Amino acid sequence: MTDVDRHPAWLPPEALRAVGSRRTVVRGAGTLVDTVAAEVARACARYGGTVHRDDAATPVDLVLALAPSGDLGPEGYALSRDDGVTVVRADEPPGLLYGFFHLVRLGESAFESARPVERHAPALHRRMVDHWDNVAVHPVMGQVERGYAGGSIFWRDGALRADLDRVGEYARLLAACGFNAISVNNVNVHLTEAHLLTDRLGDVAAIAERLRPYGIRVHLSVSFASPVILGGLPTADPLDGRVRAWWAATTRRAYEAIPDLGGYVVKADSEGQPGPFRYGRDHADGANVLAEALAPFGGVVHWRAFVYNHRQDWRDRSTDRARAAYDHFTPLDGRFADNVIVQVKHGPIDFQVREPVSPLIAAMPATRIALEIQATQEYTGQQRHVCYLAPMWSEVLRFAAGPTVAELVDGGGLVVVSNVGDDPFWTGHPLAQANLYAAGRLAWSPDRDPMSILDEWLDLTFPPGTTGDPDLVRRALHAVMDDSWRTYESYAAPLGIGFMVRPGHHYGPDVDGYEYTPWGTYHFADRDGVGVDRTRATGTGFTGQYPPPWRDVYESLDRCPDELLLFFHHVPYGHVLRSGSTVIQHIYDTHFAGVERVAEMRRQWAAVADLVDPRLHARVTERLDEQMRSAEEWRDQINTYFSRKSGVADAHHRAIHR
Ligand code: GCU
Repeated sequence: MTDVDRHPAWLPPEALRAVGSRRTVVRGAGTLVDTVAAEVARACARYGGTVHRDDAATPVDLVLALAPSGDLGPEGYALSRDDGVTVVRADEPPGLLYGFFHLVRLGESAFESARPVERHAPALHRRMVDHWDNVAVHPVMGQVERGYAGGSIFWRDGALRADLDRVGEYARLLAACGFNAISVNNVNVHLTEAHLLTDRLGDVAAIAERLRPYGIRVHLSVSFASPVILGGLPTADPLDGRVRAWWAATTRRAYEAIPDLGGYVVKADSEGQPGPFRYGRDHADGANVLAEALAPFGGVVHWRAFVYNHRQDWRDRSTDRARAAYDHFTPLDGRFADNVIVQVKHGPIDFQVREPVSPLIAAMPATRIALEIQATQEYTGQQRHVCYLAPMWSEVLRFAAGPTVAELVDGGGLVVVSNVGDDPFWTGHPLAQANLYAAGRLAWSPDRDPMSILDEWLDLTFPPGTTGDPDLVRRALHAVMDDSWRTYESYAAPLGIGFMVRPGHHYGPDVDGYEYTPWGTYHFADRDGVGVDRTRATGTGFTGQYPPPWRDVYESLDRCPDELLLFFHHVPYGHVLRSGSTVIQHIYDTHFAGVERVAEMRRQWAAVADLVDPRLHARVTERLDEQMRSAEEWRDQINTYFSRKSGVADAHHRAIHR
């Protein structure tokens, strides 16, 4: 079995053919330069090229050189053609590594005679993958919380995996799409995992060692209650001197073991996790005590803003979960230490298929903000459905109220919740790999067209020579993936209302599943209408958290975009959308159309049956069959529910189970 057979993903050997068949010289020193040289050597061993280090070997086709000029930045690189030689130049080793992967993406075209000089540098310097992996299997959440790709690649049954080779392969995949940081355990830090900070630090150091050759720094999710549960102190009060001293000493030891540790990730006062509220302190007090301990080592705290009341009374219409992050955090703007990054989910609720952009992102000008997105498809089909999420993330990153979201998160970066596990295809659904890939590429260049990123992933994952008919395969994959996010949206909860999923595991439809629960995720459907009134005029006032023009656009029934209508307004079923359709007819139409689109995706995929790896084809086919079944279930439950509630018939008399 070759590596490709074991773990098909982007960068199979074939993707390095162009580099591997050249005469290359690699100039410079350091771990990452060694990695580049080793990559070239491996490709050359397969494809007949040669590689030299630092000597003046001639003739050459390719030079990869660390050549400090001071004008490219720590991670930037330049690519040019000089006298028939392709030259990748970087000021610092990370730049050379990223330049090498750029060369791989270009393939043969990197060696074409007339190429303009290119210079590249990442827009966001922090590009991070958060794993929600548990060390010990959690009785409800399993080895990986919200994981749909098998077990953890780091942990197994309470221990570090004995064989970490796969972690090394993972580092390579991550570097190739531009990530430079990772957190290795769940934000919900249970007792076993809390110990990673102290007596199990060696496990984290072993992971860091596998990631380091590809420039990936390790971060650790820690419990705010660590001084109590690990340090034996009577309190975790951030203003208590003993607590400060404990964090300082513990952090110093952590850096002795892992000198390039990135820092901590903290979920505090959220869904049962401990936090500063218990001691009457606020989140700036809480974050700053950790920041103070990390500062001497250059570490950062990723402090999550996902703080809300998960024990709400559904009868209480005045509490609005969407408001929570903004209400908790904006009063603290300016009080966070320089090395605190407030990590904000892209929407105000929780990774739904359609949400407005979180207003908190634009509301803390004196705070470093990171944008958190979710590749693990908790609410978008759980890696059984195809759902290419880059178009959604791209909309978020480009969303502007003055500066774009991408500009606003400049200081904190992009964090994506991982969708990877020990599944042979890495992500359960093989096509879900594209989401992780695209997250890295969007962090590098948030303005990129998500479809061109998909092309890149397709080229790297199915390079010519690995499929029967590259053009046909590419067309089929585009047909299956391009609109898959909007397809999922069309048969799931309508018009931005969200949830309507089965409680607990969150897969499949259950319209009233969360309606009378404490979670704050309601749709308020009755016989007359549906939606949440979040206006200032008559609702929860959430629209007021947005800067102009959005506070007025969302407030206005006429101007609010259709796809978010029910997020912001409670309207009658007969309300006419901007599209001209009524709400109820839109629900019926989109739910029928969505299922038809899934049927078409299956047809497209069936047509390339003999052209791609048979195991991959079979896996995608099996998932598409489940997607079809599930989409029909969504369609029927949603349509039947609203047909029964409203009493309004489908204008086209299609089958609705009344
Ligand atoms: C969601 C998810 C949880 C997760 C939480 C978080 O609510 O269902 O499993 O812990 O998000 O982001 O902290």
